[in-house]
Amino acid sequence: MSETITILGLESSCDDTAAAIVRLSDDRGEILASSVHGQTALHAEFGGVVPEIAARAHVEKIDLCVEEVLSATGLPLSAMDAVAVTAGPGLIGGVLAGVMCAKGIAAGAGLPLIGVNHLAGHALTPRLTDGLPFPYLMLLVSGGHCQFLIVDGPDDFTRLGGTIDDAPGEAFDKTARLLGLPQPGGPEVERAAKAGDPARFAFPRPLLDRPGCDLSFSGLKTALLRARDAVVAEKGGLTTGDRADLCAGFQAAIADVLTEKSRRAIAAYLGHGPSDPVFAVAGGVAANGAIRAGLETVCHESGLRFTAPPLALCTDNAAMIAWAGIERFRLGLFDGSDLVARPRWPLDRTAPALLGAGKKGAKA
Ligand code: KG4
Ligand code: ZN
Repeated sequence: MSETITILGLESSCDDTAAAIVRLSDDRGEILASSVHGQTALHAEFGGVVPEIAARAHVEKIDLCVEEVLSATGLPLSAMDAVAVTAGPGLIGGVLAGVMCAKGIAAGAGLPLIGVNHLAGHALTPRLTDGLPFPYLMLLVSGGHCQFLIVDGPDDFTRLGGTIDDAPGEAFDKTARLLGLPQPGGPEVERAAKAGDPARFAFPRPLLDRPGCDLSFSGLKTALLRARDAVVAEKGGLTTGDRADLCAGFQAAIADVLTEKSRRAIAAYLGHGPSDPVFAVAGGVAANGAIRAGLETVCHESGLRFTAPPLALCTDNAAMIAWAGIERFRLGLFDGSDLVARPRWPLDRTAPALLGAGKKGAKA
């Protein structure tokens, strides 16, 4: 008989406080309960996540999240096999809030403690949702992350490339701010772009002229700012049509870059000899229809299956941390009460450090 493992997971590395209980039985993962308390409203007036406000809110909410998932499942802490917690990378005050809470629960209930890399949580989610076998190719693309990974095992990641400055979600959010659209900007920019002409403004395709899978999005923000200012200088303001064209041009540039870099990442991954090649994408930006269409096209061209976890599991949550905890539990990878919270924690220990730590925390 296969083993049954039940794990309580905690997440607090950015602007979502979350807890979840996930169970593995018959080799399948099941989310028994998941609670996410977002902080968008707390940070709205500052134009980005304020680390001190985030940390305080995590301290206030994390116990509540744990209580919610315990009462939703009716399970006592003694029914858990371990407590898993995001131990980095992220905003250090928030990560500390989660790690301290997990240490308290582990000590109080006599449970093993498992420190999880937040990026591993995202990267392993397709195994929880779709039972993907290793190795698969992963693109993490969100407000805080952008990297291509070959996932060979729960603790075995090869980074093929990533952003050297901003994450695409940050660029979408900034674009929305520059054009007077609400936050979060991604869905607003996508909506406006539907009525726009992507060819009216010639936005750059950063780093396409360089080999490899690294990406850059900060120059695109500047290009958008310049294009906006040029229209305002000429006409005295922006019409709805101008806004739509700016959004369409900006979105097309991001989609083109992600599509071409995915083509290169796929070639590198296929060189790895996977028997059932799959490309999985996660992160809030994966919700974008134009970007998704580009990624699906390259997968189709290269004979790869394309998969994306449901959006609630693509964005920050604790079910992914509990699941990554289950994967580590099976390998016997436990931590002691000396587990440290880490602001930076690259998944691929052999890859050179990525530059940049955006508004949502460290990227690698
Ligand atoms: O994964 P996620 O929830 O989290 C963090 O990074 O914490 O991603 C949020 C990001 C935001 O920047 C948001 O603007 C972007 O994902 N996003 C989108 C879309 N929906 C959300 N970007 C482009 N198009 C969308 N439809
Ligand atoms: Zn995340």
